[in-house]
Formats: sequence, C-alpha cells, structure tokens
Amino acid sequence: MEIQFAKRFDGISGSAIRDIFKLLTNPAIISFAGGNPANTALESDVISRLALKVLAQNGTQLLQYGQTEGYAPLRESAAEFFRHNGVDAKPEELLPVTGSQQALDLICKALIDPGDTMLVESPTFLGALQTFKLYQANLVPVETDEDGVIPELLEEKIKRHHPKLIYLIPTFQNPTGRTLTLERRKQVAQIVAKYGVMLIEDDPYRDLRYAGEPLPAIKSFDESGRVLYCNSFSKIISPGLRTAAVVCTDPTMMRKLVIGKQSTDVHSPNLNQAIVDAYLREGILMEHIRIISESYGKQMSKMQQMLATFPASVKYTRPDGGIFLWCELPEGFNATDLLKTATQMGVAYIPGTHFYTQPGTHHNTMRLNFSNATLENIEKGMNIFKELFISEGLR
Ligand SMILES: Cc1ncc(COP(=O)(O)O)c(C=O)c1O
Repeated sequence: MEIQFAKRFDGISGSAIRDIFKLLTNPAIISFAGGNPANTALESDVISRLALKVLAQNGTQLLQYGQTEGYAPLRESAAEFFRHNGVDAKPEELLPVTGSQQALDLICKALIDPGDTMLVESPTFLGALQTFKLYQANLVPVETDEDGVIPELLEEKIKRHHPKLIYLIPTFQNPTGRTLTLERRKQVAQIVAKYGVMLIEDDPYRDLRYAGEPLPAIKSFDESGRVLYCNSFSKIISPGLRTAAVVCTDPTMMRKLVIGKQSTDVHSPNLNQAIVDAYLREGILMEHIRIISESYGKQMSKMQQMLATFPASVKYTRPDGGIFLWCELPEGFNATDLLKTATQMGVAYIPGTHFYTQPGTHHNTMRLNFSNATLENIEKGMNIFKELFISEGLR
C-alpha cells in the first residue's frame, strides 16, 4: 500500500531544482545556478577562532538548551546591526531564527490557513514559493518592472483579493536583482498600513551593494507594525551557520512566532548564534562586507560585460548589487529545455520558470548567479551560453 502523505505536499515535488543541483556535484560544470557566497568568502579561520572564544567564555551555557526567543546577546548585537538599515528595533522585537527560510516558515505557520491568499512579486524566490505552497496558500502574483513591485497594482490586488500576507524582496531581488525605489518603499508601507495587511520584507542582499546609495528598509517607514523584516547572515558571513533574524514589532505576532518556533526546533543552535554575535561585536563585519563586495562587484561586471557581447535580443538586468542577474531570451526560446544541453556543454543556470507561481510559464527566462564563479569561469561559461544560443538560432 502506498504511503498516504498530507495534502499539503500535493503538487510539490522539488524535483526540478533537485535534479539541477545533482548535476552540479560534477565539478567540471561551471555553475551559475546556486545562490551561494564564494567559497573564498567563507572564513573558517575567523569562525574557528570565534567558536573557541565563545566556548571558552561561555561553553556550558552554549552547550545547554537555550531560550526559544534566542541568544540574548545576539538579539542586542543584531538589533544594533540592523539599525544601519534604518530598522530601529529593540532586542525583544528581534527573533533569531535558523536561516531566514525558517522565518518564512514560522510567519506562514502563524498566519496562513489553507486557501488564504498571499500576494508575491512575479517572479520571486523559489524557496519562498515552496514554503508558501506547503502552507497551501493561494498565491497571487503582482507584476513588477525595473523598479520592483508596482504599488498601484499591489493596492489593486489587495482590494480585489483581500490577502492575509504579502511577500517582497525589495533589495537586489532574487531572482531579478531589481531594487524597489525609495518612493515605492514609502508607498508600500502606507498601503499595508491602510489595508492592515501583513508584509514580509525579506532583505538578505541589502549589504551586498557595489554601486549607488543604500536605501532605507520598508520597515523603517512602518508605523503600523505590519511589516515583518527578515535579514540573514547567510550571504554576508556563512549560510552553513543558519543564522538570521526576523524583526517583529507587534508583540502578539512575536508571541505566535515564538510558539511556532518552539515546536519546530526549540531554538536555533546557541553556538552558531554566539559565533555570529561575537563576529558582530568584534566590529569586523563591515570590513568583510567591503572585501566580498569588491570581488562580487567585479564578478557582476564581468558577467554583464559578457552579456553585452550577446545578440541584443537577450535582455538582462543591471543591478547595483546582490548576487543574481536575470535574463530574458526572445519569445520562443526555451531556457528550461536548453538546460540539459547547456550542462552537457559544461555550464548551468536555473530556468526562470521555477520563480513563477504558475510553473510551465516564462520558459524564455533564466537566473544567473555570479558570486560563486571566478572571473575566468564567468568568461568561459558565458561564452558557452553564447555559442549554445547562437547555435539555437539566436540573433
Ligand atoms: C530572498 C531570499 N530569502 C531567503 C533566503 C534563505 O536564506 P537563509 O540562508 O537565511 O535561510 C534566500 C536564500 O537564497 C533568499 O534568496
């Protein structure tokens, strides 16, 4: 007899992406597919020094069970760090979580019943889409342009669909790299306050800026307590430490997140939280961000320079930061089908279709990651793409 799985898994296979990542275990393939920081950005020497330091200072407490609300010193140091984003939270308004992926899960656990409507940018982060689908949300896409989500359309869809929750990635968006303008950030904060709808502002890329001036978070304009601000140390320190935080200024909502987290993992690992706290307190993060941004900026420029040599029918985004570029091939080209040949030729990407609420659409789009490839491999990999596309008739 077959195992009877919960209905929430209906229609969720995860297989397309899993298959792509299986291919990537082949080291000969140049991968623009993941969302990983550069291996050279991961400082095992610094992390091992900090681990020894915090264990020597506080080992017994760190190895014991901790509080679901998080390691108290990290709540303070992360709140201080978020202040430079214009997010002025008190330590008790910040919940450390096991990666911001967990924040998305806990927020849905608190708010989403099967069939509840959520508005998401189109396209958006596929890991978030998977979480929202597991909570059986009714996902309604909101169109975006070069400046991110379009506030007028957002408001129109709120009036039409009465969503419980909105999900936005306003800075160097995954997958497009686009950034919401200052004016639109203010408008979005006003709209969520006006309609009393909750908003997830997912902001893991904001510190990876290579040009232009930083913009304040939407949360900095939030007087209604409706904006849940998620930020992560994955892309700027280490994804393997699984340390992120969600800022929630509504105490009732915060209580729900804590209760939900209790049943998920009791608390995030104390040792990892303490390492990130020590990293922040030593004041070394901004310098590390400066160093990695310098190389990511060069990698991004290299990928854009290579794209500029493609036929002009290939459109691509020109972000000021982040780790992704988004490409649109002319209508009729199928990036989903072409992936197999591309990987046989030695290069991989994520077909754009996976970033849409309705799979099976937008086959002419693709996401390219540049942070985890050397300049040499970017040149090599992009030349392979050009050769492939031209052999497929791209003009
Ligand atoms: C927009 C966005 N949100 C959340 C995450 C998950 O990050 P974390 O490692 O903090 O769980 C990612 C990772 O790629 C992402 O791109």
